[in-house]
Amino acid sequence: MKALVYKDTGKIEIVERPVPVIQSENDAIVKVEVSSICTSDLHIVRGFVPRANKNIILGHEFAGTVVSVGSDVKTLTPGDRVSANCETFCGECWFCKRGFVNNCEKGGWELGCRIDGCHAEYVRVPYADTGLTKMPDNVSFENALFVGDILSSGWWGAELCEIKSGDLLAVIGAGPVGLCSMLSAKLQGASKVVAIDIDSSRLEIAKRENLADYFINPAKEDACKIIKDLTYGRGADAVIEAAGGNNTFELAYKIARPNAIVSVVAMYEKNQILPLPEMYGKNLIFKTGGVDASKCGELVKLISENKINTDFLITHRYKLEDIVEAYKFFEDKSSGCLKIAIE
Ligand SMILES: NC(=O)c1ccc[n+]([C@@H]2O[C@H](COP(=O)([O-])OP(=O)(O)OC[C@H]3O[C@@H](n4cnc5c(N)ncnc54)[C@H](O)[C@@H]3O)[C@@H](O)[C@H]2O)c1
Ligand SMILES: [Zn+2]
Ligand SMILES: [Zn+2]
Repeated sequence: MKALVYKDTGKIEIVERPVPVIQSENDAIVKVEVSSICTSDLHIVRGFVPRANKNIILGHEFAGTVVSVGSDVKTLTPGDRVSANCETFCGECWFCKRGFVNNCEKGGWELGCRIDGCHAEYVRVPYADTGLTKMPDNVSFENALFVGDILSSGWWGAELCEIKSGDLLAVIGAGPVGLCSMLSAKLQGASKVVAIDIDSSRLEIAKRENLADYFINPAKEDACKIIKDLTYGRGADAVIEAAGGNNTFELAYKIARPNAIVSVVAMYEKNQILPLPEMYGKNLIFKTGGVDASKCGELVKLISENKINTDFLITHRYKLEDIVEAYKFFEDKSSGCLKIAIE
């Protein structure tokens, strides 16, 4: 089969690889019907993910059809249409039992990072019962493409904010993850959402899709002042940092009101500075990390009920044989590309 392999920093290549086979009785083999490229794939290719293995097939965002299952797989049979979780987790260890699936003692972010991923014709999914979610008939592969990664990340980022009615929530970054955070925040009860991005075309998408109430471009205006003006001088009740820019961590704690939660979903390529003396007394709560993608079933249900629709994120389509070109196009933000469907 054709597969996209991460050779070394800056080097990816389409190669021929054998179709994967069941290695453990909890595995499933899935035919990839549609996949996407995640900004985290770009972080691997640029060499900023130390835990990534060289020579693995990239990709962790996809939907497909189950072709075979190991004897311990209980919930799936060949022919099932499934959306995939970007995380591999056993569902039974100390962390999994508490919902902290990103730190599963037997898994975590494995697909397309430590083991072969989905930028290929077929993929082996370990712990298939927790790693794959069956899709109802009225949900298409494209409808569910983002469930296990960026939609889960946005949903989780919003959950970390412990949103209360009346809250004004600011989201830094109106990229795919930020846009998913905005729609999640609204569904979780935020009264007002503020979209912040230096790319006006992305703010326009948030506006067009009705995902936010206020739109701020910090390259052109003073985000701190505008948010203070909107909140009687207090600051945002919660902030989701989904940009990962040079100064966006700083912006996140600056626009937050005292005692706010700052939820850091972005993955940085450089260390960030937390100036504790400067913020002494502001009593902020920081929550950070890789998504605990444990709500895929609920998200598929919300899609099936038409309460969530992420189809607008697909701005371009490529064939698997052209995926190297697709990576370049996705990385070039000026292209107007949000997400690519590889079909
Ligand atoms: N925590 C997780 O599990 C998880 C999962 C998926 C993605 N991610 C990370 O989330 C981040 C966002 O992903 P994405 O796909 O939406 O990325 P993206 O690059 O498409 O979007 C980031 C947005 O931030 C904006 N931005 C950059 N610098 C800014 C600045 N200084 N001020 C305001 N806005 C600025 C950009 O214009 C862009 O629209 C990435 O770091 C990605 O790796 C994390
Ligand atoms: Zn991802
Ligand atoms: Zn576990």
